[in-house]
Amino acid sequence: MNVLGIETSCDETAAAVVENGQRIRSNTLLSSLKEHQRFGGIIPEIASRKQLEFIQTVVHSALANANLTLNNIDALAVTQRPGLIGSLLVGIAFARSLAYALRKPLIEVDHIQAHLYANFLQKHQPKLPAVGLVASGGHTSLFYIKNFTAIKLIGETRDDALGETYDKVARILELGYPGGPVIDKLARKAKNSHIHFTCAAISDTLDFSFSGIKTAVYYYVRDHGKEKNFSKENIAQSFQKSVIEVVIEKCRRACQHYKAGTLLIGGGVAANSYLREKLTELSEKEKINIYYPPLNLCTDNAAMIAGWGYQLLKKQKRNIS
Ligand code: KG4
Ligand code: ZN
Repeated sequence: MNVLGIETSCDETAAAVVENGQRIRSNTLLSSLKEHQRFGGIIPEIASRKQLEFIQTVVHSALANANLTLNNIDALAVTQRPGLIGSLLVGIAFARSLAYALRKPLIEVDHIQAHLYANFLQKHQPKLPAVGLVASGGHTSLFYIKNFTAIKLIGETRDDALGETYDKVARILELGYPGGPVIDKLARKAKNSHIHFTCAAISDTLDFSFSGIKTAVYYYVRDHGKEKNFSKENIAQSFQKSVIEVVIEKCRRACQHYKAGTLLIGGGVAANSYLREKLTELSEKEKINIYYPPLNLCTDNAAMIAGWGYQLLKKQKRNIS
């Protein structure tokens, strides 16, 4: 059972073929990131125009790399939400037309849930129930996953997403876009930063808030900026330490509250080396099995869409074995 997945929610145009929700036969993408970099963030109009330009090539490559033709595709899956509407429209219209022409089932899936599913595209299958954290440029959400059809949102950001905060802090420090990987690297270079930034913890809930710490970094840079009397390395380290500690603590509390022995991580920020270091400590201390996908499946990709689509189609028993 081969599912062709299509993902066009932001600046990546991605297509993949996944067999039985498990074996990745191909996973291709083109990105318009370079076109946005000089603006310091994603420009929706440019992103959707690039989606239109790339979609056909990417789908062709996904089929060719899998050594398959459209005749070998049993079903299609496409990102339905959330995302930039112009970009989403390209993928959805393309997938609907293809499914109609091929007379094959199409499932439209939630991008954030698919990020969590990326953990199931690995050899070692996580055990459910689990707590899931998705942290990317657009979202920061915690879920309780009882099984594939019972996924409950238990916490989310009240303002900026975690990746977005990294990007904005990088912008304040004039480090370019996207900011996450640069700040991650820079923070490693600081010896022992004594700057203190507080990330709001919002006790009694599993929600997050990151806009305050972003503003604190802004004021710090403004106040020390004239004399360039600050170290970007130290700021990066202190900022990162503060936000990641809050994220780790919320994950710990969620696992404890829901008595979950598994924690699934997804989204672009899952690539962060300090987050991974702290998760390893958490895993050892609290005896929680923690999973994160390989780097190419942390960021936006279509394999997670095809895999998750297969599981949902299977539950709906729509013409598939
Ligand atoms: O999941 P993703 O590829 O796209 C969205 O759906 O947003 O995530 C991109 C986000 C960006 O904000 C980027 O700065 C962040 O993930 N990111 C990181 C790292 N690598 C990517 N944030 C922190 N540390 C990293 N190493
Ligand atoms: Zn994403």
